[in-house]
Amino acid sequence: MPILTAPTTTTSTAPTGSTARTRVLAGRRVLVPGGTGAVGEGVVRAYLDAGADVVVPSRSAVRAAELHALLGPEDAARLHVFEHDYTTFAGAGSLVATMLDRLGGVDDVVAPIGGWWAGRRLTEVEDTDWQSAFVGLATTHLAVARAALPHLPRQGAYAVVVGQSAHHPVPGSGLVSMEQAAVLMMQRVLAAEAGDEARVFALVLGPVRTRAVAGEPAWVSAAQVGSVAVALSADPSLTSAELGLGDGDAARAVLEELADRTGR
Ligand SMILES: NC(=O)c1ccc[n+]([C@@H]2O[C@H](COP(=O)([O-])OP(=O)(O)OC[C@H]3O[C@@H](n4cnc5c(N)ncnc54)[C@H](OP(=O)(O)O)[C@@H]3O)[C@@H](O)[C@H]2O)c1
Repeated sequence: MPILTAPTTTTSTAPTGSTARTRVLAGRRVLVPGGTGAVGEGVVRAYLDAGADVVVPSRSAVRAAELHALLGPEDAARLHVFEHDYTTFAGAGSLVATMLDRLGGVDDVVAPIGGWWAGRRLTEVEDTDWQSAFVGLATTHLAVARAALPHLPRQGAYAVVVGQSAHHPVPGSGLVSMEQAAVLMMQRVLAAEAGDEARVFALVLGPVRTRAVAGEPAWVSAAQVGSVAVALSADPSLTSAELGLGDGDAARAVLEELADRTGR
């Protein structure tokens, strides 16, 4: 398991072969808290494919090992997965300090942190629900942002990942809607406070096809989420924004628009 050694690969293209890839982000150091998750896997794969060094802290050594095994040996030298509690201000701070110390910086962050919660109306939620589905997740998002964002270079990108429940009330899952709306507003405030000094994005997803849920062909895939995040990182002319990835067609349209803008 990896171990935050400094990146050694700065080539611009992958080795030739049937899966040759353009390493547009070679040398970039990308932090993906939540990278062990269903959406996170697509994000991690996309950044590895783009040549970046990818750092995935996990609260669980078991989930860290599972991700490492899932991704295989091809990009193992650039994948740094390890157990670390990043869910507190102190934990996120020490994570970023370690990246600065061992890798020399943090260039991009994608935060697919969270999951689904359901089962009670808001008037029925218990303190444990509130703490885990709202307080814990909202705290984690802010902890990572306040630790990492001040260190990102201007060309770097910070992206939060939320669901459409940030915009739409879901009866019985109100804590998800509340937490996602809070994270979306966090992105808006961070973007407003940063002005031209940082690029802060929100990816607002519909249901996602992942390793955990096959879903429907029309759904956006975890791989598409990763491709959009990489496109945002790769083009420093793109400024802070909220991007809707409600389904696969919407993701394709966003990718085409980003490619058009970058090609101009
Ligand atoms: N899957 C979908 O269909 C879908 C649809 C719309 C939006 N989204 C959004 O995409 C993001 C990721 O969702 P996902 O489906 O990939 O979820 P997931 O598979 O449960 O993964 C989420 C990851 O977040 C990390 N995490 C940190 N603190 C957590 C906490 N208190 N509770 C739960 N997880 C925590 C976990 O990493 P460690 O345990 O390794 O630390 C976990 O692997 C969420 O914001 C979700 O709302 C997902």
